[in-house]
Amino acid sequence: MITEKRNLKYKINWKDAREGILRERIGGAKLRFDPDVKTKSASDFSKRIKEGEYEYGRKATEVFSGFLDPSMEVLEIGPGPGTVTVPLSKLVRRVTAVDLSLRNIAHLEENLREEGRDNVDVIHENWLRTDDEALRERYDLVFCSHFLWMIPDLEGHLAKMENASRRYCAIIQPAGRGRLVKDVYTEITGREYAGEFEPDGDYFAYVILREWGRLLNVTHFSFTNTMTLEEKVRSTASFIGRFVEVDEGVAERIRGLVRPHADANGVFVETNNVVAMWWEVGDRASG
Ligand SMILES: C[S@@+](CC[C@H](N)C(=O)[O-])C[C@H]1O[C@@H](n2cnc3c(N)ncnc32)[C@H](O)[C@@H]1O
Repeated sequence: MITEKRNLKYKINWKDAREGILRERIGGAKLRFDPDVKTKSASDFSKRIKEGEYEYGRKATEVFSGFLDPSMEVLEIGPGPGTVTVPLSKLVRRVTAVDLSLRNIAHLEENLREEGRDNVDVIHENWLRTDDEALRERYDLVFCSHFLWMIPDLEGHLAKMENASRRYCAIIQPAGRGRLVKDVYTEITGREYAGEFEPDGDYFAYVILREWGRLLNVTHFSFTNTMTLEEKVRSTASFIGRFVEVDEGVAERIRGLVRPHADANGVFVETNNVVAMWWEVGDRASG
């Protein structure tokens, strides 16, 4: 739904900050230590999201529970392996899930089958190229989770979300990074951690949406993940690799740096935070 955007005389200059972060991370992670790293990382991710019976996704749906109803049609942008899609599909009539990664779609379809879900339409498409005219006000809820760094034009993305919604929009975004990845960053790059992994994407979305006058419901939750040593190396490399190339030598150094942080069973247990915000698209704050 297209709603009015207020025009502010005084604004926070979030654009320079976001562009600076995107420039610094340009090209994504440079991972040369394993030719199969992308396939393995997608499979690690699909395994992780199912922990605690889809703990992350279940907690996201709890945030939506104030307004969800079983007749709803939902559009999810960038579902990945189904982190939120799978638990949400049990609570609403239909979910349409748009993702451009065939690798992730394969995991999503496998996870939907495993849970016996048949009310999810999986669409292999670039969200940024979807036709706004055809999507206008088609869904009761439009949301994305862990997606805000995937697109250069955040305002364009939020406007597209609102266009496709006849009622609610929501954003779920992991928040903050653990100490270990920051320490590894310092060891590998030789630079003190200077805030490179933060702020999180929700920070910018919040500022933009408030600029537009949207009234946001904001909350947060935490979830727990476990990783083997190799999973931890791949996950850590996916951050470090945005700043330096991770070849076999660097991967071995990462392995050495993280190994002492495993528990007695050699497993890494991490609790992470997530910010969730939702808004009613029809709501207009006065200017
Ligand atoms: C970090 S994953 C998040 C997956 C899941 N939503 C979650 O919360 O765990 C981001 C997903 O967005 C997808 N994606 C990135 N850019 C996209 C685009 N322009 N159109 C559709 N999907 C996109 C990626 O393929 C990936 O599956």
